[in-house]
Order: sequence, then C-alpha cells, then structure tokens
Amino acid sequence: MSRSRILAAATVIASAMTLNAAAFAQSGEVNVYSYRENKLVQPLIDAFTKDTGIKVNIVSASSGLEQRIKSEGANSPADVLLTVDIGRIDEAVQAGVTQPIKSDVIDKVVPAQYRDPDGHWAGISMRARVIYASKDRVKQDAITYEELADPKWKGKICIRSGQHIYNNALFAAYVAHHGEAKAEEWLRGVKANLAQKPSGGDREQARDVAAGKCDLAIGNTYYWALMNNDPDKKPWAEATRVILPTFAGGGTHVNLSGVLLAKNAPNRANAVKFIEWLAGEHAQHLYADANYEYPVRAGVAVNPTIAGYGKLTADTLPIAKIAASRKAASTLVDKVGFDN
Ligand SMILES: [Fe+2]
Repeated sequence: MSRSRILAAATVIASAMTLNAAAFAQSGEVNVYSYRENKLVQPLIDAFTKDTGIKVNIVSASSGLEQRIKSEGANSPADVLLTVDIGRIDEAVQAGVTQPIKSDVIDKVVPAQYRDPDGHWAGISMRARVIYASKDRVKQDAITYEELADPKWKGKICIRSGQHIYNNALFAAYVAHHGEAKAEEWLRGVKANLAQKPSGGDREQARDVAAGKCDLAIGNTYYWALMNNDPDKKPWAEATRVILPTFAGGGTHVNLSGVLLAKNAPNRANAVKFIEWLAGEHAQHLYADANYEYPVRAGVAVNPTIAGYGKLTADTLPIAKIAASRKAASTLVDKVGFDN
C-alpha cells in the first residue's frame, strides 16, 4: 500500500470513529405517552430505534394521559404525546401540558392546515369521515354533507353518537363552514333522517346497512378497510361502498392523528427528532399500511384499499378552525336532541 493510500485509509477510519462518537452522543431515550393502539405504535417505535439508536419508553392508555402529565408536573418524564382526533389533540393543549415543537422539518413537511398555528401539535396522518352506502339501494356516486339533511333520506341514515369526537369534529367543520344557525338547521334535518337512535361505533353502522336498517352510514375511512380483514365483519363491508362526501363547494372532512411535545420534555431534542421521524418516509409508509391512514407527507402512497375509494380532495378548512368550533357543535347536538 502506498503512503498516500495508508493515509487515506487512516482518514476513513478516523472519520468513522468520529461518526460513531456522534451517533453515540445523539442516542439516548425518548418517553412517549400514547393513546394509539400498541399494535400500530410498536412497529413504529421499533423502526425509529433501528433508524436512530434512540430508545423509546412507551406509556399507553386509553384515557387520562393529560391529567397524568399535569399531575407529574415539572418532573414529568413525558416527552411526546401521540393521539388521535383533533378533539383529543385540542384537549391536551387546553390542559396546558404541551409546548411549541419548533421544527423546520415539520413546518416544511406537514401542510399548514394540519398544524397548530402556535406549533403545539402536528398532524401525522389523516382519516376522512365518509359514507358507507348500501350497494343495493344507493345508486348515486357523489354526495355532499349538506345533502344528509335532505328529506329524501328520511329514515335511511345510521350514525354513532353525535357527541363522539369523530362526529363532533365533522359537525364542528359544518359550523365553521356555515355558521351555527345553518348548522343547527342541518343537524335537525340529519336527525329527522336517522333510521334509529345513534349507538355503537362506526363499524356497527355498516352492520346495520348490511342488515337493511339504513342505506347510508357515516364512518371513518380506515374502518371500512379493517372490516375487510375481519371474516366476521367482511359481509358488512361487502354490502357497502365508500363514497367520499364533500362540503358543497369544498372538500372531504378529514381528521388527524397527531403528535404533541410535552411541556417539560426532559429529552426535548430526541422528542423533536422522534416527531420529525414520524413525518418521514419510513413512518409515513407504516401509517399508510398498518392502519390504513392517509399519509400527511406528500408523495407517500396510500394503501390500495383506501386508494380504491377514489381521489381524496381534502377540505381546506384548517383543523385548528375545526377545533375552535368543537364546543359550539357539542352544544348544538344537545340542543337538537340528536342522540335522543
Ligand atoms: Fe377510530
């Protein structure tokens, strides 16, 4: 080996050592509090640790995580909160347990309508609130949310509770588009069209369409895909097809799964790294395929089942505007006796 080659080899080894040292310095831990299902989250955190060397400690619960962070106070180990739906995202911000993420990567990758203007939360994936229409009894291929109040659907609509966070966000979007008075009139019209008292989850509405109790059900995009994977529920999916409704002159209502940075995050740098990684290609593919969600990052393919619904034209209303109308929507649901 020539002297220059030996020198070059030594330089390579030295820079490799520097890299390793840098990687070591960057590793460490991040503590994630999660409302999301473990079967979705585990593959994500495994992939993150593999990609970055950062260990993830996870605390999972179906409720009460904001209260837990709050009571842990300044000593809270929470770095990141993973959750679903603008309702829960908003509740975490209102609880005062978050801080601005401040990431150029997030600002660049996540469209502004899917981010908090104050930076406390960012959408990671999306789901649309759509129609599961009876294949036999519904002939039209397009529908507006406004049309759900048309008397032609009298006795033909099935929906879960109007106070459930998914419907609360949809109704809040309606309020944001049309104002409270028009939203009230619309909710009265939809209620008058219900086939039965709201109950069950989104999948049970498809079940009731399959049983002939109603012609239109309202549900989230991923449930229809999940029903196809479940032999017991596959007939419910097979009896229905998904129509992507739009607001008149607008787009389809979408909601988010999102991520928030905890107020006293002890591992702030790793937390931001985790949040940025969630918006990266690897995680976005996992979200798209494991839970049939729409990736928030442009250019990542949606799962073929979801793509089969047709092209999603998401409503352009900022999610933060929807959050601001949540309370009004909830009040209207009670006022019109939607669930009675
Ligand atoms: Fe859900």
